[in-house]
Amino acid sequence: MTHISSEGTEIEIGPLPETSLSKVLASYKGNKIIIVVDENTHDLCLEYLITSFPALEKSEIILLPNGEENKVMEVCMQVWNAFSEYGFGRKDLVLNLGGGMVTDMGGFIASVFKRGMDFIHIPTSLLAMVDAAVGGKNGIDLGPHKNQLGTIVKAKNVFIDLAFLQTLPEKEFYNGYAEMLKYGLVYDVALFDELSKFKTEDDFNRHDIIEKCVQIKVDISDRDLFEKGERKLLNFGHTFGHAIEGYRLQTDPISHGHAVGIGMCAESYVSMKRGLLSQDEFHRLQALLVKTYPFLTFSADCIQEIISLMYNDKKNEGGKIFSVLLESIGKGIYHNELSEKEIRESLQHISLLAESLN
Ligand SMILES: NC(=O)c1ccc[n+]([C@@H]2O[C@H](COP(=O)([O-])OP(=O)(O)OC[C@H]3O[C@@H](n4cnc5c(N)ncnc54)[C@H](O)[C@@H]3O)[C@@H](O)[C@H]2O)c1
Repeated sequence: MTHISSEGTEIEIGPLPETSLSKVLASYKGNKIIIVVDENTHDLCLEYLITSFPALEKSEIILLPNGEENKVMEVCMQVWNAFSEYGFGRKDLVLNLGGGMVTDMGGFIASVFKRGMDFIHIPTSLLAMVDAAVGGKNGIDLGPHKNQLGTIVKAKNVFIDLAFLQTLPEKEFYNGYAEMLKYGLVYDVALFDELSKFKTEDDFNRHDIIEKCVQIKVDISDRDLFEKGERKLLNFGHTFGHAIEGYRLQTDPISHGHAVGIGMCAESYVSMKRGLLSQDEFHRLQALLVKTYPFLTFSADCIQEIISLMYNDKKNEGGKIFSVLLESIGKGIYHNELSEKEIRESLQHISLLAESLN
């Protein structure tokens, strides 16, 4: 069992029945426990949780529809109405059991209901284990704009049990992998080197690597919870990634990790063009991303639409687009203003690459 202390959150990595969850649940005795799941985690993860903790047998289950397209206000409204009907109060506890969609939205729902209820995350996807469940960001999307409504409130506890990965579809591992690569690229070259050797599904099931990623997220987010500086590094790949994901959300959704994978290539391209990242490092990274994520082509109209979406990015200031760039693999720099020309050239580069591969 690994314990990681983050300000305001206790994180445990290990088999759920061996964690302090039963002690935590005992401290809510007399209060209601609400478990938030989506359709998949309801079917595949809930039984293990409930059978491990008899205290949960009488808990209320809130079922969210699957998928990012449901990380929206309309679904939150339905859940808050249900919370009211069931008479849930501030002292009750919300347990979010799911991937990043469930932890982002369940955290948001709990953090604003009656001005805030306690909540715990039990992440079930690799992405949620290494990233979404840690660091206090909760939120939902607004139309094509990702995570536009949200709060920064930390889960009381995060319990990470790799047993949940047994049912995770293979493609979902690559979503988590994108965020893991991000940590290596902006912060830890040795982690990147290790990750770049991953070949099979088993490689993702690594306690040591998941722990390393969680520790990086905790270290950075504890030093800069409200993203005034250093935490911006963790947005590497997301300026392009969020806009690409948002662009596709209404028509033909792609996963967060897929969009971030392409976004990391786009932002590395800008880094290389500015003479920050060496050509060798850029090509090494591009080769890894191309073989991991299907690259997309973007028409001129589509590029314009993506640029418009980028103007809505939360990291912008004064109507300008900012992004994280790389000085080298393992060293990111934040607060770089991007010109429309650079964005266009970078997306054209991605398109040409995608065409050459098809
Ligand atoms: N708050 C943050 O700091 C932060 C950081 C990164 C990403 N995010 C958010 O996280 C979300 C993406 O997370 P995600 O990739 O986990 O998406 P997700 O929650 O939609 O999960 C992906 C799919 O896997 C299924 N699933 C989850 N666990 C499973 C399991 N154990 N077995 C079988 N199926 C399982 C889900 O039902 C879903 O169909 C995005 O909304 C993104 O914006 C938040």
